[in-house]
Amino acid sequence: METIGKILLIDDEPNTLKVLSAILKKNRYDVITAKTAEEGLDRLAKFEVDLVITDYRLPGMNGAGFVDAIRSSGRKMPVIVLTAYGSIEKAVDAMKRGAFSYLAKPVNPDALLTSAREAIEKHRLILENISLKSQLKERNSFKNIVGKSKVMQDFFTMIETVGRSHSSVLISGESGTGKELVARAIHYVSPRADGPFITIDCASLPEALLESELFGHEKGAFTTAYDRKVGQIELGQGGTVLLDEVGELPLSLQKKFLRFLQEREILRVGGKTRIKVDVRIIAATNRNLEALVKESAFREDLFYRLNVVSLTVPPLRDRKDDIPLLARHFLGRLNEENRKAINGIEVEVMQLFMDHDWPGNVRELENTIERAVVLCPSDTITTPHLPASLRGKSRAAEEPAGEMNFSTVEKRLLLGALGKTSWNQTRAAEVLGISRKQLRTKMKHHGLLTEE
Ligand SMILES: Nc1ncnc2c1ncn2[C@@H]1O[C@H](COP(=O)(O)OP(=O)(O)OP(=O)(O)O)[C@@H](O)[C@H]1O
Ligand SMILES: [Mg+2]
Repeated sequence: METIGKILLIDDEPNTLKVLSAILKKNRYDVITAKTAEEGLDRLAKFEVDLVITDYRLPGMNGAGFVDAIRSSGRKMPVIVLTAYGSIEKAVDAMKRGAFSYLAKPVNPDALLTSAREAIEKHRLILENISLKSQLKERNSFKNIVGKSKVMQDFFTMIETVGRSHSSVLISGESGTGKELVARAIHYVSPRADGPFITIDCASLPEALLESELFGHEKGAFTTAYDRKVGQIELGQGGTVLLDEVGELPLSLQKKFLRFLQEREILRVGGKTRIKVDVRIIAATNRNLEALVKESAFREDLFYRLNVVSLTVPPLRDRKDDIPLLARHFLGRLNEENRKAINGIEVEVMQLFMDHDWPGNVRELENTIERAVVLCPSDTITTPHLPASLRGKSRAAEEPAGEMNFSTVEKRLLLGALGKTSWNQTRAAEVLGISRKQLRTKMKHHGLLTEE
């Protein structure tokens, strides 16, 4: 019979132990017993238990001391304490030290079973919640940003350093380079990681709506304000707010936003009282803000306030050695999402990837892989699964068929060896019978290595 939880039961009276463990066992619990707290601690060192049920009055260490000992050993399982009828202070004492609940003796079997079930269920929920939270953190942390190129490795170091501070950050970079991903990573390595992460897209709303989106509004502030609305900045209390596409922020709102940055207080539209908000601001843009400042389309004072720390995410064409890694990363994820088992990317395909300029950066690569995964009926992605824009620029297409020059042949050999060895340079060099240094020189020559 499958059990539903393991319980450590402690009482110095053999009869109580016998009766209670019979009730618990009958209800599918796995029970281990002990006669003293000391013996109980010994059992805990040997077994993983879901719940401890202990008598308060024990020879030697009493129930309260036992709860203390369990907690100070870092164990978090719930403890139910059994107390003699009427000794409520003792029960309270045990609760203060971290017991989950108490039961009066003589123990009512139904009450015992209900408490046991509740204690175990609640504890499981807490554990699940903790693991969900840490999974979420993990998913958002910079460990999820793929990149082994030197530029990206340096970038990760920057993210960690910047994360620890509270200053505003301006993230620039072409569209699709991963600015939002970087902003999230900064949040999740920062001391605010347990607070909210809010994104406001400044380009998505007309000016009038954007103001109330940012700052909120009071009921009746304008004709369609039927109810009070809390703004996004306020929702970010204790966390981080990403102002995405900040270059699109209308001038009137730039002024209001600047005031918020100076005073750290917001005023809801139609509101009278200013509300203190503690958020960290990260702004992102794919436009050249300095140029906008020169054109008077962006306030200079706001630019300086936002630009305390400035990060520029490099375009994908400047970190081409990340392409194979990114491609595999997306292939893995998209396989899962589409329930496919494509495990290979043909050498020619990888060559086209390395030759391509990626104006849409990482997002374009992600979309390209997605399209290929959907189109691919076999277990390997081949050139027909690529969009014409990529195939058209293939070097093979530029060159007359049958007239492959030395350079093309060499590049194919390199890609073949690298592909076979999952881009392990040492092993690829072995395959080709050249030194690692020679391999790297050739890779650089063919644009297969951009670091340094
Ligand atoms: N280094 C990376 N590793 C893994 N995925 C990445 C990486 N960089 C970007 N991505 C993915 O590429 C897509 C685009 O990234 P993101 O939305 O962060 O770009 P962006 O710079 O904000 O673009 P835009 O300027 O268009 O808003 C996302 O799906 C993101 O998860
Ligand atoms: Mg973005």
